[in-house]
Amino acid sequence: MTDRIKKLCSYLFKCTVFADVGCDHGYCAQYALENSLCKKAVISDVSEKCLSKAERLLKDYIRDGRCRSVCCYGLEKIDPSAELTLIAGMGGEEIISIFRAAYIPQNFVLQPMKNVREVREYLLEQGAEITRDEVFLSCGKYYFVLCGRRGGNKSSYTPAQLQYGKGDIKGDLGGFLRAELSKKLDYLASASGDSKIRIKKDIDLIGEMLKGESD
Ligand SMILES: C[S@@+](CC[C@H](N)C(=O)[O-])C[C@H]1O[C@@H](n2cnc3c(N)ncnc32)[C@H](O)[C@@H]1O
Repeated sequence: MTDRIKKLCSYLFKCTVFADVGCDHGYCAQYALENSLCKKAVISDVSEKCLSKAERLLKDYIRDGRCRSVCCYGLEKIDPSAELTLIAGMGGEEIISIFRAAYIPQNFVLQPMKNVREVREYLLEQGAEITRDEVFLSCGKYYFVLCGRRGGNKSSYTPAQLQYGKGDIKGDLGGFLRAELSKKLDYLASASGDSKIRIKKDIDLIGEMLKGESD
């Protein structure tokens, strides 16, 4: 299990049915089952080849009826009554497409690899509540995690938080923002036109977030 997956699993909570959508290797479902975080797990992947890795890993749980395996696009064959759904390691646009084609899960843990802002915007537009919106550093790379639920209280976000989340500015979010700032300043030097305006806007948002470090 990689450090990223261990950190990701720390966001899971005790539930009856846990769904791991786009499970690939199946390590997250294995963690949930082994640590009694769920009574039952559903593993799914759009690729039969990927799903077969998880089926091999979880064969004993499948045999005992504690794990069900389905090959499908997103949430297509996942019952909406699953209490907690993890979707990790895909692009944000793919996660949004999955929700559009089906539903927003009751409770979710999402780890989009990119387009995190778009995922936040989509969830908020749909009236979902984002309860945790953090970033963590694993093996030199930053990963965003969004936890929340369908319905609930629509969360409020500033424009800077929509872009960069609500992580710990004195922790990994601060590190991420400083790294971003340095990249953006490099890009700015050679940018022109609309892209220069966009980069400047991002730099302002980062500056606004980093102000919180000294508060
Ligand atoms: C990079 S792996 C991530 C695996 C695991 N969730 C993780 O975070 O380590 C992405 C997985 O998502 C699957 N996938 C991509 N798009 C999907 C979709 N629309 N529905 C279901 N699975 C999908 C891929 O086949 C692949 O196994």
